[in-house]
Amino acid sequence: MALPTRKFDAVVVGAGGAGMRAALQLAEAGLKVGVLSKVFPTRSHTVAAQGGIGASLGNMGEDSWLWHMYDTIKGSDYLGDQDAIEFMCRMAPEVVYELEHFGMPFDRNENGTVYQRPFGGHSRDFGAGPVQRSVCAADRTGHAMLHTLYQRNVRANTVFFVEWMALDLIRDASGQVLGVTAMEMETGEVWIFHARATLFATGGAGRIFSASTNAFINTGDGLGMAARAGIPLEDMEFWQFHPTGVAGAGVLITEGVRGEGGYLLNKNGERFMERYAPTMKDLASRDVVSRAMATEIKEGRGCGKEADHILLKLDHLGVDVVEKRLPGIREIAKKFANVDPVKDPIPVVPTCHYQMGGIPTNYHGEVVVPTPGNVSTVVQGFYAAGECACASVHGANRLGTNSLTDLLVFGKASGNRVIEYLKENPGHKDLPADAGEVSRARLARLDGQTKGESVFEVGAEMRRTMQAHCGVFRFPDMLTEGVARIEEVTERVKRTEIQDKSKTFNTARIEALELDNLIEVARSTMICAEARKESRGAHDRADYPKRDDESWLKHSLWYAADNHLEYKPVVLKPLTAQSFEPKVRSY
Ligand code: FUM
Repeated sequence: MALPTRKFDAVVVGAGGAGMRAALQLAEAGLKVGVLSKVFPTRSHTVAAQGGIGASLGNMGEDSWLWHMYDTIKGSDYLGDQDAIEFMCRMAPEVVYELEHFGMPFDRNENGTVYQRPFGGHSRDFGAGPVQRSVCAADRTGHAMLHTLYQRNVRANTVFFVEWMALDLIRDASGQVLGVTAMEMETGEVWIFHARATLFATGGAGRIFSASTNAFINTGDGLGMAARAGIPLEDMEFWQFHPTGVAGAGVLITEGVRGEGGYLLNKNGERFMERYAPTMKDLASRDVVSRAMATEIKEGRGCGKEADHILLKLDHLGVDVVEKRLPGIREIAKKFANVDPVKDPIPVVPTCHYQMGGIPTNYHGEVVVPTPGNVSTVVQGFYAAGECACASVHGANRLGTNSLTDLLVFGKASGNRVIEYLKENPGHKDLPADAGEVSRARLARLDGQTKGESVFEVGAEMRRTMQAHCGVFRFPDMLTEGVARIEEVTERVKRTEIQDKSKTFNTARIEALELDNLIEVARSTMICAEARKESRGAHDRADYPKRDDESWLKHSLWYAADNHLEYKPVVLKPLTAQSFEPKVRSY
């Protein structure tokens, strides 16, 4: 029997910042837009974004989009595509002012302009020293942004499907994308969402690691669906470890703490970042700070009984600054570290935070795949924006704040490109006869006749493997063994089933379906990391400690079906600006 079907002009999967910004663009253009979300939109993971949005407004002193562009390229360790980076940095002020006009409650200066704080890796005058570029709403910027975008979408008549999980992409014989299958989590019903354009904004997949700042919903659903449908994943070896996750809990402590004047100490009370990054110190780029912290711990200068963490000191900022600029941090530190940061430092460790890679797109949000001869070809009807996409503006290491900049700029840009595409391509194409079969087969496996493997146990093994074999520092033997282990876990995932079929809740099915997605992300990460024989940005190999532009200034593309890797060149030519040639990074 055919699955029940709903028709939309555009279906957006994910209701975080990118999804809602794209949906808003489409709904305001009068299109019929359906947004699928596993959680209520304002609970999407963007809600956890704390420190701000990078945009060169210049409210606190001179700034320019070209300096922002330079910082982003340097931060990316020169792996970012310079056309996309120029586009993002030029567009950033515009999307921030739009958000302000939508009603976003930004922090203000005395003169009424939007307040901006310093952030890691952001500099004035091409690296001369810190600049104040991050616009924020205290340390709850993502929370304020989601509420603003949600209200605006409601006004524009976007149709939300709350607690619906997208399962699989539907492509026809020509490869065109015609929508998705999705399950209503409450009833377990599976529907086809037949769309003229499908836009993925499913966020990251930080839950492949045991310790992560990511929400439990961040299971790489878009990446899993794309990989199963034959789309390659780009630059998956690059994962950002945020310097300041609460030790033992993983909860994010914003870089805004260091932006407001906080700093890191080792067990000797030394402000060690002065040694690693003499100019930017605690505001060096994240890969640099995380590696410095891990080195301090490795060399025996970690804090606490186990010498296993670093201290983040902010008591000198005073209660007033903390309450005004960092109220959420005080609450998190009290709840998760049992310290009041206006009196005592917060114990922190580098923690998995952000995936730089994802579904390959151009800077219009169109999904592009290479065809023979390395020509980029657009996948008709398919778009991606935000953390699930790789535009690629973050390259090998993202600058703090650029995640929110990315989702606003590319959410809007992809919405605009969908509008153009729909004008040129009226009407729905027919669904293929087997639409929905892949999802049916996956669900049938979970309710199979044997007990199969436990989703919980296999998932835990995947997370342990990723954490131990593919962390801040990477070692050749650990990577080789990691690949073998992840392949074993992949085989086990194929045998996962619901354990107690007599009392199955749909949440058990959802966790199993999420693991199908996570494992594609974990596999691609481990395989790409093992293959890349250099150190660049967040990818640091003990056996190849240097960046190697001659051999490795290229993006990786991993294909799930036959588990093979290809590479494509980095775009070094910006749209209009001067290009920035790769050089040694120092902060
Ligand atoms: O530190 C933070 O507030 C995180 C920001 C980001 O990931 O961009």
